[in-house]
Amino acid sequence: MTMRTLFIVGAGGLGKEVVDIVQSSPLAAQYALAFIDDTVAPGTIVHGVEVVGSRAFLRAVDPEQSAVCVAIGSPAVRRDLIGEIESWGLSLPAIVDASALIRPSVVLGPGVIVGARAFVSSQSVIGAHVVINPGVLVGHDVVIGPYAVIGGGAMLSGGAKVGEGTLVGAGASILLNTPVGDWATVGMGAAVYAAVENGTTVLGNPARALPVLRKKNEAAGLAAGTSTNSAPVAP
Ligand SMILES: CC(C)(COP(=O)(O)OP(=O)(O)OC[C@H]1O[C@@H](n2cnc3c(N)ncnc32)[C@H](O)[C@@H]1OP(=O)(O)O)[C@@H](O)C(=O)NCCC(=O)NCCS
Repeated sequence: MTMRTLFIVGAGGLGKEVVDIVQSSPLAAQYALAFIDDTVAPGTIVHGVEVVGSRAFLRAVDPEQSAVCVAIGSPAVRRDLIGEIESWGLSLPAIVDASALIRPSVVLGPGVIVGARAFVSSQSVIGAHVVINPGVLVGHDVVIGPYAVIGGGAMLSGGAKVGEGTLVGAGASILLNTPVGDWATVGMGAAVYAAVENGTTVLGNPARALPVLRKKNEAAGLAAGTSTNSAPVAP
């Protein structure tokens, strides 16, 4: 059988993880690997895989012999790049680590990336091109919208909802049945107990929206930029 080439867009950290996922799973029998990166010189070897060119390179590849994985962790950049790549007729397969545990009742969208030791529980629905980083726990009946990125070790409790394009930071937790809106950001380590509005950034435990935090800091007499560490997350 002729192997297809999986072009991994982005030779950074997530790109290296995709190399490891493919090479340690049955996908290794299907795909040879190459990196696409606009900022790394062609011919450079990254994590054992050659950078063959920039994005424009993909316009000339044969869709029958190729597939693409966009290994970029910014949801908005993912959406734009994936739209462009799909318009060139190229496919983006799901890339799932062999050690991830995904219950059979889960609906996995196309183009998802699921990292090592992630767990996705019963009847959850994972949207197209979502990234679930290593060690993430997704409870039962969770719904994650397209292009969302879930940081390593985050915990989405049963029935939680994460909207389209939302970034959930590493180690963040979302309470049972709690919705987080579209294109929102949940800061690293935040604990979300209440609904998060579209486009909002929340931080801390309990998670608070950034503008709210800034107002509280001003009221407490903390000038912007003068605190050293945890002031923005004070409840
Ligand atoms: C929330 C976040 C998006 C803010 O990024 P930013 O807008 O660039 O903010 P800054 O780094 O300028 O930090 C602004 C302030 O918030 C604080 N802060 C930043 N992130 C924080 C967090 N997650 N929790 C608490 N405080 C945080 C900073 O210490 C800084 O405080 P200061 O004003 O007292 O110095 C980012 O810090 C974050 O948590 N991103 C998640 C990344 C991640 O986990 N990705 C997944 C990888 S697998």
